[in-house]
Amino acid sequence: MTPPPPPPRRLVCVTGAGGFIGSWLVKLLLSRGYAVHATVRDPHDPKNAFLKQLENAPENLRLFKADVLDGGSLTAAFAGCEGVFHPATPVPEEKTVDPEKEMLDPAVKGTRNVLEACSAAGVQKLVVVSSIGAVCFNPSLPRDRIIDETCWSDKKSCKENENWYCLAKTEAEEMALEYSEKNGLHVITVCPALVLGPLLQTVLLSTSSKVLLYVMKGGPDAIGNTFFPIVDVRDVADALLLVYDKAGPSERYICSQEQMDTKDFLDLMKSMYPNYSYTFKVVDVDTRVGLTSEKLKKLGWKPRKLEETLVDSVESHEKAGLVDDEPCRLPYLYRVPDAQE
Ligand SMILES: NC(=O)c1ccc[n+]([C@@H]2O[C@H](COP(=O)([O-])OP(=O)(O)OC[C@H]3O[C@@H](n4cnc5c(N)ncnc54)[C@H](OP(=O)(O)O)[C@@H]3O)[C@@H](O)[C@H]2O)c1
Repeated sequence: MTPPPPPPRRLVCVTGAGGFIGSWLVKLLLSRGYAVHATVRDPHDPKNAFLKQLENAPENLRLFKADVLDGGSLTAAFAGCEGVFHPATPVPEEKTVDPEKEMLDPAVKGTRNVLEACSAAGVQKLVVVSSIGAVCFNPSLPRDRIIDETCWSDKKSCKENENWYCLAKTEAEEMALEYSEKNGLHVITVCPALVLGPLLQTVLLSTSSKVLLYVMKGGPDAIGNTFFPIVDVRDVADALLLVYDKAGPSERYICSQEQMDTKDFLDLMKSMYPNYSYTFKVVDVDTRVGLTSEKLKKLGWKPRKLEETLVDSVESHEKAGLVDDEPCRLPYLYRVPDAQE
């Protein structure tokens, strides 16, 4: 008897697939039998070559050249896809000089282009990677308030403080959820905390990995002793696929492992890795505690322990030869105001 034909492969697209989160998501999707269209800005750039080495990539991964600022470039990548995951947004490492060009356009116009291209291609579901930067930057939130998905960053404060990253992520996420309600596209947003974890690539280094590198190497910038929520990149990938499978339309999910302050995090790092220098100042700033991922956990999300994330992150950065004696800076977003240039 002839065996039944295999079930059709589910085809999805991931934007910014060469990035930290994008690449772990591609790896997860391939391991679950999905066929993946992966967008990168330059498929011939050697920094993206690692994607083709992922397990199941030869048969199930296709790279597409696309820039989210050019809506038309997304058409071929989204064609035939049942779902799209959208992590592609720059995460600035230095002070933003031209906020429109560097942050707002790629985040907000870029997300608008992704939404419209999804509708045009008949995509059923879109998962947008937002950030807790769209949730927590709000001085009027009461200090004893547990921060959940009903909280939004205050766009006026973001502008006044020239926090263009938080402004861009807030505007992009708001727009995506509004679009979902008005246009019937099933959009879900996920707001990760600071993402750490092992790297799949050795050439590209995400801004959040540079926060960990700074902690290990030290340098001239002060770190604020404030709340410091962290999440593992592999758990972010799990969360993105989980909400894709299970969440209703226009839903928003905070994605953070454990709640801790900078000092607790540094104490943990020092106890696990006493030989790094940790030579930087820690300055007390307004501390807000209590961010919850209960909504995501109720959907079935099980993040790993922070210790596991730190061990795997440190080992991966060491193995990639990134922990050298070169001076380094703390990414601008994490420098406390009195230490900024
Ligand atoms: N890492 C974190 O701690 C963290 C926390 C919360 C939220 N997030 C969000 O997670 C997402 C991914 O962050 P990540 O940490 O994975 O950063 P990443 O490693 O720097 O990846 C960002 C990706 O976006 C792509 N990209 C930038 N501008 C683009 C454009 N105009 N068109 C197409 N692609 C573009 C980059 O492609 P190229 O390689 O071509 O530059 C890169 O692949 C972002 O939306 C970020 O806001 C990150």
